[in-house]
Amino acid sequence: MIPKEVFKFFADLIYDRSGMVYLEKDYYRLESRIKDMVKLFEVEDTQALYWLFKEKITPDMEAVLNNISTNNETFFFRDIKPFKTLTNFVIPELEKVYPNDPLKIWSCACSSGQEPYSILMSIDSDLPPKNFQLTSVDASDISKKILEKAKSGIYNGLDVQRGLPIDLLMKYFTQLETGDWQIAKKIMNKVLFSEFNLLTGNYPANKYHIIFCRNVLIYQDVKNKSDVINHIYSALKPGGYMFLGNGESLISIESDFKRVTFEGMTIYQKEKKATL
Ligand SMILES: C[S@@+](CC[C@H](N)C(=O)[O-])C[C@H]1O[C@@H](n2cnc3c(N)ncnc32)[C@H](O)[C@@H]1O
Repeated sequence: MIPKEVFKFFADLIYDRSGMVYLEKDYYRLESRIKDMVKLFEVEDTQALYWLFKEKITPDMEAVLNNISTNNETFFFRDIKPFKTLTNFVIPELEKVYPNDPLKIWSCACSSGQEPYSILMSIDSDLPPKNFQLTSVDASDISKKILEKAKSGIYNGLDVQRGLPIDLLMKYFTQLETGDWQIAKKIMNKVLFSEFNLLTGNYPANKYHIIFCRNVLIYQDVKNKSDVINHIYSALKPGGYMFLGNGESLISIESDFKRVTFEGMTIYQKEKKATL
């Protein structure tokens, strides 16, 4: 049985570092994560782990905390609609405003990479070759461990059965001797992965045409959510678009984003340049 003050200590620490909220009713979800850390740090029990973290948190300990406290659920072409909206509406709209510009996209909570790779497979499959040539994707996450998987571009049989159409599996993946599947270099080489904490990172200004920020803000409180949304707004170019997750919205968030609906899918647009 883990003492309540140990749960509270780790819940507060996680909130402090990643903004993820674990309320008292959610403590049961922390139980196995705390026990995993007991094994990993080879301490006697959860109380000893508490004292270890209370004394000093090294960067390695922080990385472990980020790795174990995050929910990395993701899959290829998650919810499908965003990827259709991207190629059928958003990119053609942006091309009118930024013709021949290199297209900069950011997947800012990319987990194991399925999201940025799905973005690039969509652009390569559905748009003329010029669009793919002009696109580059930055992809980031708070968890070092999940980024290692993303960078490897290697997925097991279960991963490739989730959301990935068979023709795209055949077109973009090679099966390795282990039975796993590796995504084509053509796609991989277009993604630059890096570690980035949405709460504490230094956001670039006016850099991206499109930002995917999906299924990460659901774990944040209103204050953090609001800060992240407003940073994303600044990181977009004028007229740029933000995608949120299915079921996520800007309700109760104050921002300058304009809601745009395309075939039933809501996306969010930064104010256009005065001349547009
Ligand atoms: C549920 S996954 C969503 C992945 C992908 N965007 C999707 O929709 O399928 C959420 C990701 O957000 C990351 N994350 C959580 N808190 C974060 C933070 N403060 N900064 C950056 N990434 C964070 C987690 O590590 C996890 O990989």
